Amino acid sequence: MIIYRDSYQGIVPEQLHGFFVGWPNRPTPETHLRLLQGSDAVVLAIDNSTECVVGFITAITDGVLSAYIPLLEVLPEYQRQGIGSELVGRMLSRLSNLYMVDVLCDSDVIPFYAKCGMRPATGVMLRNYAAQSGCQRAGEDR
Ligand SMILES: CC(C)(COP(=O)(O)OP(=O)(O)OC[C@H]1O[C@@H](n2cnc3c(N)ncnc32)[C@H](O)[C@@H]1OP(=O)(O)O)[C@@H](O)C(=O)NCCC(=O)NCCS
Repeated sequence: MIIYRDSYQGIVPEQLHGFFVGWPNRPTPETHLRLLQGSDAVVLAIDNSTECVVGFITAITDGVLSAYIPLLEVLPEYQRQGIGSELVGRMLSRLSNLYMVDVLCDSDVIPFYAKCGMRPATGVMLRNYAAQSGCQRAGEDR
């Protein structure tokens, strides 16, 4: 059975394996835990038979008007079972007091977000691929 939690409390890196599929420089499970801790809101999907995290979503917010959802992922073997929509639904309800909630995503995922009640928009982005693994902390020399 999949259970959902809106806290990273008690989560250890050993429960965070297999994420960032397709990323050339994947964050380690330790770095993954660090980014959960640094987020304003998280929702985790946990397989209670293994106690492993099988899906997660994060949000960054100013707490007044706006929030951004930087990361959402469900492990491949758990996809297409409704977990992604449940994570988005739970996060959107946590952010429901805000004016704007934004996500940047590849075009193939737009139908998924549309089913979650969001609508397509135009955006811009910047990526520093040297920092993709998250190993480097702000202010450290390169
Ligand atoms: C996108 C993602 C989170 C969806 O998770 P999921 O648990 O498979 O999604 P659900 O099972 O809740 O799917 C909900 C609906 O969206 C559809 N859907 C799911 N993934 C989709 C995709 N990649 N493209 C288009 N539609 C998709 C499903 O068919 C389903 O529709 P249905 O209810 O009519 O069957 C998952 O595919 C994933 O982790 N992908 C890799 C990371 C990624 O792209 N994250 C988004 C970054 S912004």
